[in-house]
Amino acid sequence: MNHLVAPSILAADFANLQRDIEMINRSEADWFHVDVMDGLFVPNISFGFPVMKAVAKYATKPLDVHLMIVDPNRYLKEFAEAGAHGITVHIEACPHLHRTVQSIKELGCKAGVALNPHTPVSSLVDIITDLDMVLIMSVNPGFGGQKFIPNTYKKIKDLTMLAAEANPNLIIEIDGGVDQNNAAQLVEAGVTALVAGSSVFAAPDHEKAIMGLKNPLKS
Ligand code: DX5
Ligand code: ZN
Repeated sequence: MNHLVAPSILAADFANLQRDIEMINRSEADWFHVDVMDGLFVPNISFGFPVMKAVAKYATKPLDVHLMIVDPNRYLKEFAEAGAHGITVHIEACPHLHRTVQSIKELGCKAGVALNPHTPVSSLVDIITDLDMVLIMSVNPGFGGQKFIPNTYKKIKDLTMLAAEANPNLIIEIDGGVDQNNAAQLVEAGVTALVAGSSVFAAPDHEKAIMGLKNPLKS
């Protein structure tokens, strides 16, 4: 399977959001990655429903919504109604993860679970068959532009092994510090969806940067 690329609009120019959305529409990107932060689960606040609805209005590709918020159950329905295609919640924010995952599916969305850098892949053993996607955080969530944590490769290996036996269709997504230099190695390790914020939007040519992530050169 060809891997997916999901540019994170967290790194977009919010004063020119429609322009940046149209750039992603035109590009080789597969999804829009939408980072929602509440200032509690993570030490930063990004944006909420008004911005997400504005994105949904112009986006012609699925919205991959990453909720970095406490007790996400409170808002699942509203995110589904705002246009989420997939909703990813953090395992660290969900004491009743099984119920949360079922709720996401009942809303007609794909269900994802995200792991912080310190959370082992083994914590997913009893939920893996219910999931459409696992998002491995390769930085501590909260901010764009951080450095990729190398231990992520070990977690990708653990997850590819778990998925091979329990859920071969699982999408394995990596988020944080993804760029042209590590994309090929990540895909080779088994990643099937790459999220990228600053490496796309800090590049002089955003569309070209997306193309580079879609067709990474092996070093
Ligand atoms: C971080 C977010 C990421 C962020 C990635 O908490 O979940 O999606 O936008 O940004 P880069 O690609 O700049 O690390
Ligand atoms: Zn994210």
